[in-house]
Amino acid sequence: MDHELLNQLLKPKTIAVVGASSVPGKIGYTVVDNLLKSGYSGEVYPINPTATEILGLKVYPNIKDVPAYVEAAVITVPAKAVPQVIEDCGQKKVKGLIVITSGFAESGRRDLEDQIVEIAHRYGMALLGPNIVGTLSNSDKLNASFAPFLPLNGKASLVTQSGALLIAIDAATYTRNVGFDKLVSIGNMADVNIADLVTWLDDDPNTTCISLYIEGLRDGRQFIEACQHAHKPIIALKAGVSAHGAAAAASHTGSLAGAAKVYGAAFQQAGVIGASDLSNLFDRTLALSLQPPMKGDNLIIITNGGGVGVLATDAAEKFGLPLKFAPEEVQNELKKYMPEFGSAKNPIDLTGQAGNEWYYDAVRYAIAQPWVDGMVVLYCETAITNPTEIAHGIEKALKDAGIHGKPVTVSFVGGEKSVAAMSELIKVGIPAYQAPDMAVNAIVSLREYENLSHMVAESAAPCAPSNQAAAREVIARVREQQRLTLTEIEAKEIFLAYGLPITRTLLAKSENEAVELAQKIGFPVVMKIVSPDILHKSDAGGVRVNLKDTASVREAYRTILTNAKNYKAEAKIHGVAIQEMAPWGTEVILGSVNDPTFGPTMMFGLGGIFVEVLKDVTFRVAPVTRGQALRMLGEIRGAPILSGVRGESPRDREALAEVLCNYSHMILDLGDEIAESDANPVLVYEEGRGLKVADARIILKKK
Ligand code: ACO
Repeated sequence: MDHELLNQLLKPKTIAVVGASSVPGKIGYTVVDNLLKSGYSGEVYPINPTATEILGLKVYPNIKDVPAYVEAAVITVPAKAVPQVIEDCGQKKVKGLIVITSGFAESGRRDLEDQIVEIAHRYGMALLGPNIVGTLSNSDKLNASFAPFLPLNGKASLVTQSGALLIAIDAATYTRNVGFDKLVSIGNMADVNIADLVTWLDDDPNTTCISLYIEGLRDGRQFIEACQHAHKPIIALKAGVSAHGAAAAASHTGSLAGAAKVYGAAFQQAGVIGASDLSNLFDRTLALSLQPPMKGDNLIIITNGGGVGVLATDAAEKFGLPLKFAPEEVQNELKKYMPEFGSAKNPIDLTGQAGNEWYYDAVRYAIAQPWVDGMVVLYCETAITNPTEIAHGIEKALKDAGIHGKPVTVSFVGGEKSVAAMSELIKVGIPAYQAPDMAVNAIVSLREYENLSHMVAESAAPCAPSNQAAAREVIARVREQQRLTLTEIEAKEIFLAYGLPITRTLLAKSENEAVELAQKIGFPVVMKIVSPDILHKSDAGGVRVNLKDTASVREAYRTILTNAKNYKAEAKIHGVAIQEMAPWGTEVILGSVNDPTFGPTMMFGLGGIFVEVLKDVTFRVAPVTRGQALRMLGEIRGAPILSGVRGESPRDREALAEVLCNYSHMILDLGDEIAESDANPVLVYEEGRGLKVADARIILKKK
C-alpha cells in the first residue's frame, strides 16, 4: 500500500469524527475527547446530524459541509450508516478512514464489508478496520481511538488484531514499564493489513521495534515478504494455535500441520521473533526496542547472588544460549573486583558484598572484552547496598566503556527500591526485569534477531532442472478421470519430473508382464497394488517385498489382486507396480500441505514410528532454501540419527537437503493443483550415497 496514503491515514493533518456525539460515555464522544486530550495539533471536525457543538468544537451535519480539507475520518456511526458515510468521505476527498464500527465480516456481514472497501477504493482511500479501537501515536500526539490514553512513551510500535487487547496493553504499558510510540488496532483488516503496517512502521523514525499480536493472517506470503524486507526487529505473538485445519487430512503431512508449527516456520522464514505469551511479548519488545542485536553466542552474567546466577544459567540453557566459561585472562581481571570467595568463571559472582564500585568495574571491563557478545547483570537487594546506586554504577560503567553494539539486560530482585532503580535503567535505555530468567529470555531474543537476520539474507537454493509440463500432463490425465488421488505410479511420475530420486517403478497389467518387468528391473523386487481407491496399500494386503525370482513374482501378482478385491470389491485396479527393491536406509518422510494462510508448505521428519507416534516433524513454507533445509534436518528431535549415533555412519544430509529444496519447488510450482503429498518412506543412505523415495502419494485440490 502507498506509503503516503498510510501517512495520511495514520498521521493525518486534520481529522473528522463522523458519528461524534455530545453524550459522554458514547464512543463518538470519547474519540473527540481523546483527540483533544492527547494534544493533537491538527483541526478536529465533529460530524453529527443534529448537534451544534461538541466539547467546544463546531459540529457539521455532514463531512461535506466542512469548509476545509479533511485528511482522515474516524467513523463511529452504526454499521448500516457506514457505506453512505464513506461515500460522503470519498466525495470530500478524504484519504484515510478509521472505521471503529463493528458489525461487518466478524458477525457474518462480509457483504457490507466488501461494499465499504469497494467505495473506499473507488475514491482511492485507505481503510483501517472495521471493528477497531482506533490508532494512537505518541510522536504525533494522536489518540484517534476509544482507548483511555496514549501509552507510556517508548520506541516500540504495536499492531494488534484484537481491539480489546490494545486497550489492555495501553494501560499495562505503565504498570509494566514498556514504552510504545504507536498502538494500531487493525481489526478485520478489510483493506490495510499487517504486512502494510510492517512496511510502513519499518520506515517510521519513531519506531525501533515492531510488535505484533496476530490471530490469523489472510495473505501469509505477503506477510513473510514484508517482514523479510524490514530492517527492524519484528516480534509476534500468535494466538489460536490449537485449532487449525488438521482435521480430515488424507496424508500424514496434512494431519500433522497445525497452526503452531506452520506459523512457527513462517515466522522463522520471515525473520520474525516469536513471543510465547503476552508477558513475553512485553519483555522481548522492551529489549528489542532498546538494545542492539547480539552478534555472537558468548553471554556473560554478572551477579551478586549465586542463586539468581544459577537461575539465569538454567534459563540461558533452556532458551538456547548456554553459558560458557569466560577465557582465563578475562577471569583473572574480573577476580580483582570480588573477594577471594567470589567466582570469575561465568556467571561472574561478585558476592553479596558487591557494592556499586565492583559492579562498575566488572561491568565496564567485561562489556569491552572482545569475547563478550552480550551481558546480563543481576542484583539481589541487600541491606548493605542501595539499588539506585547499583543502577547508576551499571549505567555509568556502560557509558564509560563506550561500547554500543552489545546488548545488556538487567534484573534486580528485591522490593520497591529495586523496582524504582529498574525504572531509571529503562529510562536510559537499559531493559530491566523482575526475574533473572526474564532478563535472559530478553537477551536471547536479541540473539535470535541476529540469527534470523542472517537466515533471511540466505539466497534461495538453485533447483534441479524440472519438467513442469510433464507433471501437469499427469495431473490433467487424473483430472480427466475425475479423480483427486494419484496412484503411486502417477505420483512418482511427477516426482521424477522434479528430479526426485524415486525407486524405479513400472506398471504390470498381467502376470506375464509382471515377470517381464521384474526381470527388466532386476531381482529382488517389490510389488504393490495400483488403485486410486486403495490409499493404504499394506492394510489391503497389497504390498509384497523382497521377491527374488519369477515364481514368487507370479504368486505375488495373484495374491495381491485377490487381497485387493477382498479388501474393496468395487476398487478400480490399474494393475500391480513392480518396483526396484531399494536397500535398507534410514527412513524419513517428506510431505506437503497447501496451508490456507501460507500456501504450499513442506514437512520433514523421520519416518516410521517417529512420525506415526512421536510426530517428530518440522515445517517450512515453500520454497525452502538449502540453509533452511539443513536446519530442518537439525531441528527434529531425532536429528542425531541422521548425523550418526552409536557407531552408525552419518546419513547423506547434503543429498537429503537438496531433495527437500527440489520437493519444495515442486509443490510451489504445482501449488494450484496439489493439496497434499507425501514421500514416505524415503530411504537415506550413508554420506555420498544419496537416497531413494520408495513410496509417493499426491492428492489434488478440489476444483
Ligand atoms: N453521520 C453523522 N452522525 C451520525 C450518522 C451519520 N450518518 N448516523 C448516526 N450518527 C450519530 C448519531 O446521531 C449518534 O450521535 P448522538 O449521540 O448525538 O445521537 C452517533 O452518530 C452514534 O450513533 P448511535 O446510533 O448512537 O450509535 P452508538 O454510539 O450507540 O454506536 C458504534 C455506534 C459505537 C459505532 C457501534 O455501532 C459499534 O460498532 N460499537 C462497537 C465498536 C467497537 O467495539 N469496536 C472495536 C471492536 S474491538 C473491541 O472489542 C474493543
